[in-house]
Amino acid sequence: MFRATVLTLYPEMFPGPLGASLAGRALERGAWSLEARNIRDVATDRHRTVDDTPAGGGAGMVLKPDIVAAAIDAACPADDTRPRLLMSPRGKPLDQTRVRALSAGDGALILCGRFEGVDERVVEARGLEEVSIGDYVLSGGELAAMVLIDAIVRLLPGVMGNAESGDTESFETGLLEHPHYTRPQEWEGHAIPEILLSGDHGRIAKWRLEQARDLTRRRRPDLWEAYRAQHLEKGKP
Ligand code: ADE
Repeated sequence: MFRATVLTLYPEMFPGPLGASLAGRALERGAWSLEARNIRDVATDRHRTVDDTPAGGGAGMVLKPDIVAAAIDAACPADDTRPRLLMSPRGKPLDQTRVRALSAGDGALILCGRFEGVDERVVEARGLEEVSIGDYVLSGGELAAMVLIDAIVRLLPGVMGNAESGDTESFETGLLEHPHYTRPQEWEGHAIPEILLSGDHGRIAKWRLEQARDLTRRRRPDLWEAYRAQHLEKGKP
C-alpha cells in the first residue's frame, strides 16, 4: 500500500482536498495512507523553536538541521526505503514520468519547506531530493505536497474509475489531450465537429491524434520537440 508521510509545521492542512473526491474515497477504503506529522513536535526547548536566522544574513528564517533530522528520524525507521522528498521551488520539476515511478513504489516521506528554506546540511545528510511543482513560489510546501500526492494516488490500482482514461490523457502519450465535446449537439450556435458524430472510430482516432499534435505544437513547443524526436521521422514537419 502506498504510504505518504508528510512532515509539516501545519499538519492541520491535511488531508484537506486529499480527503475529498477520488483521493479521499481511496483514502477511506484504505487504498493508500496519509500521516501528517508536526515538525514542531520534536522541538524540545521552551519556545519549541524550529527555525533560526540565515547564516550570512538576509531575510527570512531557515529550518534548523537538528530539528529536521529529528523529525525525519522519528517518522522513518532506518530500514524505511521510501524516497525522501523535499518540496521546494529549487527542485527538479515534477513530471508524469516521476509521478508514475512514485506510484509504483510503497510511498514517500515528504518534507514541506516553509520560511526561506531548509539548512542545506540536512538535505544532504538525510538524502532529501528536492521536487518542484512549477516555476512559481508558494508560501510553503504543503500545497505542493498535496499536488504531488494527488497525482500519485489517482494512478494507484483501482483508484481511477475509468482505467482507459489514464492512457490517452495529457502527458501519458507525450501530447496534450485532444478537445472533448458532449451534448447538446449545438450550443450557443456552435456545433460539435461533425466527424465525432460519424460513428467511424478509425477516422475519429485519426482526427483526435491530429488535434492533439496541433495543440501540442502550438501550446507546448517543448513537449512537441520531444514527441517529434521520438515518434516522427527526422526532418519531417
Ligand atoms: N514550495 C514553494 N514553492 C514551491 C514549488 N513551486 N514547488 C514545490 N514546493 C514549493
